[in-house]
Amino acid sequence: MNITQEARDAISKFKLPQEVGFGQVLAPVMASCDYENGKWGDLEIIPYGPIKLYPTAKVFHYAQEIFEGMKAYKADGNGPFLFRPLENFHRFNFSAKRMAIPEISEEVFMGAVNTIVSLCSDFIPEEAGSSLYIRPFIFATEENLGIKPSQKFKFMVVASPSGTYYSAGAMSVLIQREMVRAFPGGTGAAKTGGNYAGSLLSNVEAAKKGYMNSLWLDAKEHTYIEELSGMNFFAVYGNELVTPPVSDTILDGITRKSLIDLAELSGIKVSVRKININELLEDIEQKRCTEAFACGTAAIITPIEYFGDDSGQKYSFEKAPGEMSTQLREMLLDIQEGRRSGPENWVIKID
Ligand SMILES: Cc1ncc(COP(=O)(O)O)c(C=O)c1O
Repeated sequence: MNITQEARDAISKFKLPQEVGFGQVLAPVMASCDYENGKWGDLEIIPYGPIKLYPTAKVFHYAQEIFEGMKAYKADGNGPFLFRPLENFHRFNFSAKRMAIPEISEEVFMGAVNTIVSLCSDFIPEEAGSSLYIRPFIFATEENLGIKPSQKFKFMVVASPSGTYYSAGAMSVLIQREMVRAFPGGTGAAKTGGNYAGSLLSNVEAAKKGYMNSLWLDAKEHTYIEELSGMNFFAVYGNELVTPPVSDTILDGITRKSLIDLAELSGIKVSVRKININELLEDIEQKRCTEAFACGTAAIITPIEYFGDDSGQKYSFEKAPGEMSTQLREMLLDIQEGRRSGPENWVIKID
């Protein structure tokens, strides 16, 4: 790996602003590695800045690209810590395979992530819930218009010193009963840009109606809950957590699987089963379902205040955040920020 002098200069000049927001302030360096002639080349660390691409780079036309989202935490003078980074590495290659992108080695992926975290260690905000958000991605760079898998790619890692994702306490959620995010046999389980581009209109429509996010239902029956915007979904029934099973239409979230493990270790019952939206709304009205929340790396756990339907009807929880969302969020964040020990190998310290 080559860390250029320009990258070192960019780091020594960088000043972290007081207010960072989420994903708004970019770290001064990035990692880059090219795929050509059937193999990945050498990794370089260069200053963050524009890159040159041909207008015919296939990513612009056929969206052949994948990405990951992960965080490095620092708290109470400890860290930086990565949370289950190999899960991101494995999911990255799962997405690569689905999108006909050549897989990348653990050495290149983790080498790039660890080096960026280590070089940016002084710019990781330490307030609870703040982090260095890390975005590894690969995109097709071959410069022609043939609809064929690209023969050239670029792997990059950029990072962003970030505060908490949602500053508002709880979300209002519009049930999306027409558009779908994913369908059986499609790309819903891969982290690829097209899934997100296709979901933006629903969020625009939700915002017009005064909602913060939209809830995705299954493509066949428009009845079963899949995900909430770009996050996994949980409903709480007293001391029981309920979440839909992952499938080829639901992203296998690392926060989701970590919460399932933590809940089970804490004696909370977890049921992985399909959730019928109409039954859920009835259960909210009858107060059988006491809380609901979405989870993901960026937002950690975000409680839901109420669901709304196109008819204008609203289904509200008595309390948001509720006790379960608060307890699980604290437990997970304490582990991620190194205040509490979690299951083996969940938290990796970067030198
Ligand atoms: C569509 C979608 N679902 C769920 C998640 C949550 O996954 P994770 O907990 O691994 O961040 C994400 C974010 O990565 C996502 O983009």
